[in-house]
Amino acid sequence: MSDLVRITDVSPRDGLQNEAGIISTQDKLRLLGLLAAAGVDEVEVTSFVSPRWIPALADSGELVSQLAEVLGRDEIDRREPWSTYFASDAACKFSALVPNQQGMEKLLQVNIDPRDEDAVATPLSKIAVFTAASESFCQKNIGCAIHESLTRFKPVIALAGQHQLFTRGYISCAIACPIEGPINPNRVADVAVELAELGCAEIDLGDTIGAGTPENVRALIEAVIARLGNKWLTGDRLTLHLHDTFGRAADCVKTALYLGIRSFDSSVAGLGGCPYAGTPDAPAPGNISTELLVKTVESEGYQTSVRMDRLKEAATFATRIVAEARARVALAKLAGPETQP
Ligand code: HMG
Ligand code: MG
Repeated sequence: MSDLVRITDVSPRDGLQNEAGIISTQDKLRLLGLLAAAGVDEVEVTSFVSPRWIPALADSGELVSQLAEVLGRDEIDRREPWSTYFASDAACKFSALVPNQQGMEKLLQVNIDPRDEDAVATPLSKIAVFTAASESFCQKNIGCAIHESLTRFKPVIALAGQHQLFTRGYISCAIACPIEGPINPNRVADVAVELAELGCAEIDLGDTIGAGTPENVRALIEAVIARLGNKWLTGDRLTLHLHDTFGRAADCVKTALYLGIRSFDSSVAGLGGCPYAGTPDAPAPGNISTELLVKTVESEGYQTSVRMDRLKEAATFATRIVAEARARVALAKLAGPETQP
């Protein structure tokens, strides 16, 4: 089994989706460039969801258009260190979340390579559909039952296939649900099988609220592999998406590595959290930070393609833009109800 571990940084999506303040499309583009330059294998760019539900990602179309434009440029502005990535042959892949056919159609309108009318080398090479192993969470997050979500995904996955896009299928609440509590791993395995049958090339197990422990992560992975088969342990087909509420995510990574998982999601500077996984008293927790993930993976003797010095640069930038957006919101609140952040 390979020693190389795939790192997907989801900060531009999971990290920013819960922010009340608006971060400019230009700053998001710069974050994508910094992450790619740091050597992460994939970046989850944004989400083609309803802007009323997730205002922070309302610029998804514009962001992907700008990404397409930058990737298609012959001349790179070398005054911006992050933009040099876009001139290199670095292998970073980009993806986006899609909840339904409407989102998929919006994505396809902008996912074009300006140099290539046949749109073969599109900026996004993967989409991610998302459901849950908990009925209550699925209802709260995407407004439908699990079986309805799978029905919605059918035309989305078919369209993805027609456009040579891979599909990742997320299962939220793979360990526990903020409403229903602990989730039976066999329930997760059932949903994983349904997603695989629909045509998802990859399954992503989401510990949405950071309830993972080495023991329940082991039970989860064993249950899913027992149903999907060992072939899902090769080719980065099974991914673990950990939130780090109780500081146990690194131990869960070690367990997952031991069991053969070679693909993990994380968020630079540990940003993030699902807006529908929090409560007024306890906001949704951030993802395991990419810095901690890389350190943990490498300390266990595995390899990543990440350069830590550059990753720290990306972390500093991400932390700054989020802090500035929060400060604008705080100032707007002080100034009065009519003022927009
Ligand atoms: P809905 O309200 O049930 O949909 O939303 P609807 O079909 O009834 O449509 C209602 C309105 O939304 C209509 O507009 C539609 O046009 C519009 P109106 O006529 O009222 O003006 N609409 C859309 N607009 C833009 N893009 C679309 C779209 N679809 C409908 N794609 C929907 C259904 C799924 C869209 C909604 O529930 C939604 O956007 N939810 C957001 C959920 C979300 O983004 N959650 C966070 C990501 S998941 C996560 O963080 C977990 C993860 O990290 C893994 C883990 O940690 O576990 C992945
Ligand atoms: Mg998440």
